[in-house]
Amino acid sequence: MNLILLGPPGAGKGTQAARLVADRGMVQLSTGDMLRAAVKEGTPVGLKAKAVMDAGELVSDAIVSALIGEALDRMGPEQGAIFDGYPRTAAQAESLDAILSERGRSLDHVIELEVDEDALVDRITGRFTCAKCGAGYHDRYKLPKVEGACDVCGSHEFKRRPDDNAETVRTRMAEYRAKTAPILPIYEGRGLVSRVDGMAEMDVVTDAIAGILDRTP
Ligand code: AP5
Repeated sequence: MNLILLGPPGAGKGTQAARLVADRGMVQLSTGDMLRAAVKEGTPVGLKAKAVMDAGELVSDAIVSALIGEALDRMGPEQGAIFDGYPRTAAQAESLDAILSERGRSLDHVIELEVDEDALVDRITGRFTCAKCGAGYHDRYKLPKVEGACDVCGSHEFKRRPDDNAETVRTRMAEYRAKTAPILPIYEGRGLVSRVDGMAEMDVVTDAIAGILDRTP
C-alpha cells in the first residue's frame, strides 16, 4: 500500500507517519527529513536547500523528486510507502506518478489532515525532538514522561528546527495554500482522497487513518 499524507505545516503528517511505521511496517518518506539530513551532512543538495528551507520556501521540484526516487529504490518491493511532505506542487504530483509506475507501484490513498491554521503556529513553535533518536515532543501537548529525558532512548539532548519560528511558519503556510492545496483536485478526480480531522487528539487521528486503510479492498 502506498499513501500520501497531505496537510499544511504542523498538521501532524510526521506524527502520524511515525505511527504507521510502528504499527504497519510501512516506510516513511519525508522529503523534509531527507533535506534536513542533506543540510546536516553538507552535501551539494543540502548546500542548495538550506537557505530556501530557512526562508520557508519550496526546494526545487527536481531535487525532491530525485530524493523520492532514490528512497523508493532502497525499499523492498513488499514495503508500503508513506509520502510525507511530498508531492507539494503539481509538477511533483506528475513526477510521483511516473516514479511509481516506473517501479510497478501505484497510489492507494491520499489522506488530507484538515486543520485550523491559526492553531498550527502554536503547534509548530512548541515542538522539539530528541537529538539522538528523533522522537517528537511538544512544550504543551507531549512532554517527555520524565522531565529532560527522551521516552524512547533516554537521551538528554533535544533540538528545535530553525524554520519553526512564527514568521517562517507563515511563509510555509502561504506556500501550502498557493502550491500544495491546488493538487488535491488531481487526486479527488481519481477517487483517492479521504479527509481526517487533524485537530482531534493524536490517537483519534491515528484511529481514523487506520479505519481508512483497513477499508482498502
Ligand atoms: P517538512 O519537514 O515537510 O515540514 P512541513 O510540511 O512544514 O511539516 P511539518 O514537519 O512542520 O509538520 P507535520 O505536518 O509533519 O506536523 P508534526 O507531525 O511534526 O518541510 C520543511 C521544509 O523542507 C519546507 O518548508 C521546504 O522548504 C522543504 N521541503 C520539504 N519537502 C518539500 C517538497 N516536497 N518540495 C519542496 N520543498 C520541500 O506535528 C507538529 C506538532 O504538533 C508536533 O509537536 C506534534 O507533537 C503536534 N501534534 C501533531 N498532531 C497533533 C494533534 N492531533 N494534536 C495536538 N498536537 C499534535
